[in-house]
Amino acid sequence: MLGPMLLTASRSRSVRRLVSTTPGATHIVDRFVVGETLDHAVGATRTLAGQGFAVTLDHLGEDVTDATQAATTRATYVSLLERLAEVGLTDRAEVSLKLSALGQALPRDGHQVALAHAHAICTAAQRAGTTVTLDMEDHTTVDSTLGVLGELRADFPWVGAVLQSALLRTEADCRDLARAGSRVRLVKGAYAEPASVAHAAKADVDLAYVRCLKVLMAGDGYPMVASHDPRMVTLAGALATRFERSSDSYEYQMLYGIRTSEQRRLADAGEQLRVYVPFGADWYGYFMRRLAERPANVGFFLRSLISR
Ligand code: FDA
Repeated sequence: MLGPMLLTASRSRSVRRLVSTTPGATHIVDRFVVGETLDHAVGATRTLAGQGFAVTLDHLGEDVTDATQAATTRATYVSLLERLAEVGLTDRAEVSLKLSALGQALPRDGHQVALAHAHAICTAAQRAGTTVTLDMEDHTTVDSTLGVLGELRADFPWVGAVLQSALLRTEADCRDLARAGSRVRLVKGAYAEPASVAHAAKADVDLAYVRCLKVLMAGDGYPMVASHDPRMVTLAGALATRFERSSDSYEYQMLYGIRTSEQRRLADAGEQLRVYVPFGADWYGYFMRRLAERPANVGFFLRSLISR
């Protein structure tokens, strides 16, 4: 019950104000977010790369409703990619984009605005020698996001996408995208979705993840296994063996600050492990989704506030 409440709160302006201005909150958010600035992002990337991890960087922000903010997000990503190239980190780091941060929900031409900004970021990524993955947001955005993906791939065939096993449509989307050169990050899904489009029970989301993973690992694309669930990690390894995949034909991904010892174990075992690294001041929505995924985090959050 707490999880869905937190997901609803993640979109509430009044709860956002309350949580964002609570003294000491940012200190606790540091467990999941590396900092606010480009320097923080580049510094964290350098550290993780030095420890043998690959990185995907996410500039926090979503549900942008004015065009200026969308343009600022694009400029931040372009600067980030230039900085990563300058310091020689683009062989270890790529970026993840939320199209809603690039204007997808703007009332006039949101899809086109987000596409144009994403295209500019992909151009910068190509110049820097790295890749881009499009995050997936709630189910109302999936058609538009996959549409943008198709248009970007015409110029940048290396653009990756995220698919969420929570959605009923995703097995078919996996079959569609399991093609040569296609980078697909499979996640369970972090949004509250209606039963008309999504599996209601967590066990069904997990089973759907298993089916989707089989499709992706059996296919010709590049699966990105994004889960902290030990069962999914074990299954991915078994499927890689069954389909005779070499260790550079797929990768594991986990979020910054979550199951770090498992991240270390996989990297030490010679697997490719990419850490999803969020940075920026607009941490509220991301942070609330992390609380919702694991209600024990709420206890940690409250205890940390009280003890300060
Ligand atoms: P599950 O939720 O079953 O967790 C398995 C175990 O992992 C838990 O028992 C716990 O030990 C640990 N764990 C999981 N979440 C935790 C947390 N917040 N704090 C502490 N421990 C935790 N979603 C989306 O909708 N769109 C997207 O674009 C992305 N992008 C993305 C990128 C990457 C790299 C990852 C790893 C995840 C995403 N997600 C996402 C989030 C994803 O949909 C999902 O909500 C979380 O990964 C949690 O699901 P798990 O597969 O980890 O399993």
